[in-house]
Amino acid sequence: MSHTLYTASVNRVQRCELAVPGSNPDFFEKALKSGVDFVFLDLEDAVAPDDKLRARKNVIEAINDIDWHGHGITVSVRINGLDTQYMVRDVVDLVEQCGAKLDTILIPKVGVYSDVYMVEAMLNQLEMQQGLKNKIGIEALIETALGMANVEDIARQGACGRLEALHFGVADFAASNRARTTNIGGLNPNYPGDQWHAAISRMTVACRAYGLRPIDGPFGDFKDPEGFKAAAKRAAALGCEGKWAIHPGQIELANEVFTPPPAEVEKAKRILQALQEAAAQGKGAAALDGRLIDAASERMAKNIVTAAEAIAA
Ligand code: GLV
Ligand code: MG
Repeated sequence: MSHTLYTASVNRVQRCELAVPGSNPDFFEKALKSGVDFVFLDLEDAVAPDDKLRARKNVIEAINDIDWHGHGITVSVRINGLDTQYMVRDVVDLVEQCGAKLDTILIPKVGVYSDVYMVEAMLNQLEMQQGLKNKIGIEALIETALGMANVEDIARQGACGRLEALHFGVADFAASNRARTTNIGGLNPNYPGDQWHAAISRMTVACRAYGLRPIDGPFGDFKDPEGFKAAAKRAAALGCEGKWAIHPGQIELANEVFTPPPAEVEKAKRILQALQEAAAQGKGAAALDGRLIDAASERMAKNIVTAAEAIAA
């Protein structure tokens, strides 16, 4: 192991993150009872320009009045982008009016580390001014060519501060790259494989290098559970911890994919046990079910057991 080690500053269970438009308060109560780990109340792309101010007000009320934490839900707000006229007031009003109950802010279309820096600096000042005891985390959407080109730098510099997670925003990423599609996520039959693989993999590695959570973004076809699950499984196979739901019907699917199944947890525990027994005999490796297991197997097994324990807690 390198002597340089970046570890997660905050651990949160984030198997599924439900996107809830701030302009639709009717959805708030439904989100509360949905069984989801995380919600983000959206001020950005799901809200029309004429609704921006009303949505901000709705979101502040929802954070103050609804018992998200009592329902085991982490609550985030996706603010407007740094290139808009809304972003500054989004951050100021959120922290001043509901900062004590806000867990994270999700910044869309992060292109360079300075985008994160600006929000971080604002949060530092606003939290001091408000005398808040909690520290609001930052999550960043990597969904532009610029963001992906800088993803390692964003992760590395952000990891020293409040940045906790990077999300892959497939729709804007497709738009930014002029990828030939109008679908939100899913595979393009004209591509021999998964056209998002390289991007999700790159973002996931950047996250894991610097102690951040990698989260896969939306899958637009909410009438295609199999397509959703297949996309979630591909992301999980690469190391993502969770995926967005843009419809409550996708929550259970994501929870299922991102919860290690009992057989996997059982196998991981057997690996740990077998290696403990081998260590007692002075051996670093062992055989289990006809396969070699060693210290790397132990690290993989521990990941599974730790994830299962965090979800069960
Ligand atoms: C999410 O914001 C996306 O663009 O996919
Ligand atoms: Mg987007």
